[in-house]
Amino acid sequence: MTIALISYAHVSKRFGEAASAVTAVNDVSLDVAAGEFLAIVGGSGSGKSTLLRLANRLIDADDGTVMVEGADIRAVDPVTLRRRTGYVFQSGALFPHMSVGDNIGITPKLLGTPAREIAARVDELLALVRLDGGAYRDRLPHELSGGQRQRVGVARALAAKPRIVLMDEPFGALDPLTRDALGEDYRALHSKLALTTVMITHDMTEALLLADRIAVMHAGKMLALGTPVELSASREPYVMELLRTPRRQAERLNALLPGAGPS
Ligand SMILES: Nc1ncnc2c1ncn2[C@@H]1O[C@H](COP(=O)(O)OP(=O)(O)OP(=O)(O)O)[C@@H](O)[C@H]1O
Ligand SMILES: [Mg+2]
Repeated sequence: MTIALISYAHVSKRFGEAASAVTAVNDVSLDVAAGEFLAIVGGSGSGKSTLLRLANRLIDADDGTVMVEGADIRAVDPVTLRRRTGYVFQSGALFPHMSVGDNIGITPKLLGTPAREIAARVDELLALVRLDGGAYRDRLPHELSGGQRQRVGVARALAAKPRIVLMDEPFGALDPLTRDALGEDYRALHSKLALTTVMITHDMTEALLLADRIAVMHAGKMLALGTPVELSASREPYVMELLRTPRRQAERLNALLPGAGPS
């Protein structure tokens, strides 16, 4: 039996007062297995970020239960939970007045790790995300490219050696090549460090290429959950629509680039 590292059972979250309330997450049940790479896909406002934030208590559920590493998270101190769970924000969200090294070392510092250990950890993490420590450690975030900032964001999320990494559209604002390279690099890190990853993306192609399973959100509901092959068999109209673009792109590329597809 596989162990669920994150488990949502009938979880709902509403925002606002009764009459105008929005049900951002509506009765979602989902188990994320240890070592799994799960992508959450869906349109803007479908509840993806809310679902992710429910896992580290940036938001608390109205109904249902969220378990992380076997414990009901209502019984876990939110700060402890967040330090144990890496979180990569949309567009990096680094502290602008802190150097790259200080950004990466912030959680170990808060945990009381000695400075020498932090320095060593920062260098190790910079190497892990393929940034040269000597060149980047002392730079400020605005002195980096978007892709480099995202790499620092990943390094910071990994600083306290979490087992779980939550990523909210981590590679959204990047050009396709950088995005592809970062996605592949992250997928390799996920395997090497035996992480459990939940990544939000609005790009179905990215989800298909990176994730073990994909959860499709629509208007607060989880419409589908499965491997790429399982999703491709879905008769759910919205899921079929989401898969149409990557399918069409693959067909057109196969036609345009001789030798690109299966011959
Ligand atoms: N703090 C909040 N207060 C009030 N409403 C909120 C809050 N956070 C989210 N919502 C609402 O809940 C719904 C789901 O929002 P959520 O941020 O989870 O969507 P999303 O799928 O992440 O969208 P996007 O792709 O645009 O980031 C939206 O209607 C949003 O307006
Ligand atoms: Mg969002």
